Amino acid sequence: MKRKVQVGIIGAGPAGLLLAHLLHRQGISAAIVEGRTREAIEGTIRAGVLEQWTVDLLIALGLGERLKREAHFHDGITLRFNRASHHLDFPALTGGKRVTVYAQHEVIKDLVAALLEKDPEAIRFGVRGVKPRDFDGDHPAIETEEGRIECDFIAGCDGFHGPSRQAIPAQHLRCYETVYPFGWLGILAKAPPSHHELIYARHDRGFALLSTRSPEVQRLYIQCDPADDLAEWSDDRIWNELRQRLETDEDWRLTEGPIFQKNIVAMRSFVCETMRWGRLFLAGDAAHIVPPTGAKGLNLAAADVVVLARALESYYRTGGTGLLDSYADTCLKRIWRGERFSWYMTTLLHKNDAEEDFVQRIHMADLDYVASSEAAQRALAENYVGLPMEV
Ligand code: FAD
Ligand code: DHB
Repeated sequence: MKRKVQVGIIGAGPAGLLLAHLLHRQGISAAIVEGRTREAIEGTIRAGVLEQWTVDLLIALGLGERLKREAHFHDGITLRFNRASHHLDFPALTGGKRVTVYAQHEVIKDLVAALLEKDPEAIRFGVRGVKPRDFDGDHPAIETEEGRIECDFIAGCDGFHGPSRQAIPAQHLRCYETVYPFGWLGILAKAPPSHHELIYARHDRGFALLSTRSPEVQRLYIQCDPADDLAEWSDDRIWNELRQRLETDEDWRLTEGPIFQKNIVAMRSFVCETMRWGRLFLAGDAAHIVPPTGAKGLNLAAADVVVLARALESYYRTGGTGLLDSYADTCLKRIWRGERFSWYMTTLLHKNDAEEDFVQRIHMADLDYVASSEAAQRALAENYVGLPMEV
């Protein structure tokens, strides 16, 4: 394990891995300590949608070869409600932008392989007892059961439950949160795509989302109770719900097949505005969580580390701390916009029995408005494909 680097990174998720690549490009030494095994991080099924600028960045970094071959490039999404479909044409609405469906664990595999090729010691997997230390002084370190890594700065890219945010004194944390009374049951099914793009459906029985992974595999989600036991969700029950929630008067049928992966995730919105404490910088899910409906989580994590890498590059080149000092403020502008959009898509599309009937009628009117107004479609599309990002 490396004992001294310029930037010590905790966590080999999208944020930590992308940061390591950006720093490597700038000639800044970095090392990642990851709590899980390589197999575990490369096998965890999570997000699927990449914004246009995220894809452009991966390609510019030389990390997009497999993505270019295997990803699905989508020109829009369909909103479905009241048994009818409404297509949003992203290139027409956004001046040519699209979105890319490429599973998060495929991104992870590409980033890990390329990083280890550049520097076989860049990532240490399965490390226990990881803690950021002494970051309120000039000589921070990452403590682990295998020893200490001395560094100039620590990047806490260790997700929502990681040790970095928790290491900041609680009285200094400024956090905002809302928890939703529903979750998503996600499945992978061996069945050819039912549609060439994503379908987001609002139905009286709850939300449903049709996505894809490959010509043989579909990714689907349904709104459920976050406390549900997966054992209560037989394959038959899942397909039955999906059929009803995605029903339409059009000539369309859901293709079905064996389900080989199921999981339930709870949903919350969370922002920790204290993204920097001394020489510790939080990035990605360590600082903020969005509900998955707007497909923003991974993209927001990537945006944070672009800002952080630029600030570190400026520090090492000029000795100036201006960009490090403005890191949180710069990131929080985009984060709050991502939070707003994810909250909007979530409340718009989910059935929340705690809401008054009046509010539920407002959501239907909102959907109707999006379906019929080009201005409303443009606003949704602009956020979905990703707000402008300077890379
Ligand atoms: P993470 O991906 O969480 O990576 C953090 C890394 O830090 C992990 O590898 C972890 O093992 C490591 N770590 C944690 N603790 C320690 C420790 N003590 N020591 C060392 N390492 C540690 N977003 C979407 O847009 N669509 C989705 O469908 C979607 N589904 C999701 C499902 C789940 C179950 C979760 C948790 C998130 C989902 N997200 C989704 C969000 C998206 O996956 C995240 O926003 C994205 O992974 C954030 O990347 P990150 O690098 O900040 O954090
Ligand atoms: C997927 C995940 C999302 O959160 C979303 O909004 C769209 C698609 C997916 O996993 O494919």
